[in-house]
Amino acid sequence: MAGLPLAPISFTSRETEQTAALGRALGAVLEEHDYVGLRGQLGAGKTLFSRGVAEGAGVPLDDVSSPTYSIVQSYSGRLRLHHADLYRLTSDADLFSTGYYDLLEEPGAFLVEWVDQIAGAAPDDAMRISIEVTSPDARTMRVTTSGPKSEALLARWLEAIAAGTSSLPG
Ligand SMILES: Nc1ncnc2c1ncn2[C@@H]1O[C@H](COP(=O)(O)OP(=O)(O)O)[C@@H](O)[C@H]1O
Ligand SMILES: [Mg+2]
Repeated sequence: MAGLPLAPISFTSRETEQTAALGRALGAVLEEHDYVGLRGQLGAGKTLFSRGVAEGAGVPLDDVSSPTYSIVQSYSGRLRLHHADLYRLTSDADLFSTGYYDLLEEPGAFLVEWVDQIAGAAPDDAMRISIEVTSPDARTMRVTTSGPKSEALLARWLEAIAAGTSSLPG
């Protein structure tokens, strides 16, 4: 999509359901090799948002948990969704040993919590979402992009939000 860059952009969420709905809208428009990195303190809502993304991508919610201990989990939905949490990692070698970099070459979209824990974990063209806790129930989500693929993903996400396709049954 040509035109002015959309990012950076911010969303405000005033309750958990709003964060989940934003996630579902993003999941609904994910395409192969899209990469979404999440930042934010413990309890910011990275996993809650990720569950929304997975649901939007057609992954059965029972399959989705926080991958803090397993580092990387792959789900099957409308497309493969690889969900990682780099929180416990301290070196790129540790990340390498999980098979993460091999997965990056395979079909699927990526959703990575604590993406900046390991420098170089994200591809050059990635969407990043920083979730900031502004009150016990409110979050500010700042979205940046770093290339045409992530910018196109942001454009589809904004369309999905505007179209209200974020609400799935259940
Ligand atoms: N607006 C909101 N958006 C997301 N989470 C919220 C919101 N308000 C309260 N919360 C709470 O914050 C916590 C987020 O937890 P979680 O998603 O596990 O965070 P993280 O993965 O970033 O450590 C949950 O207990 C959730 O109920
Ligand atoms: Mg988490």
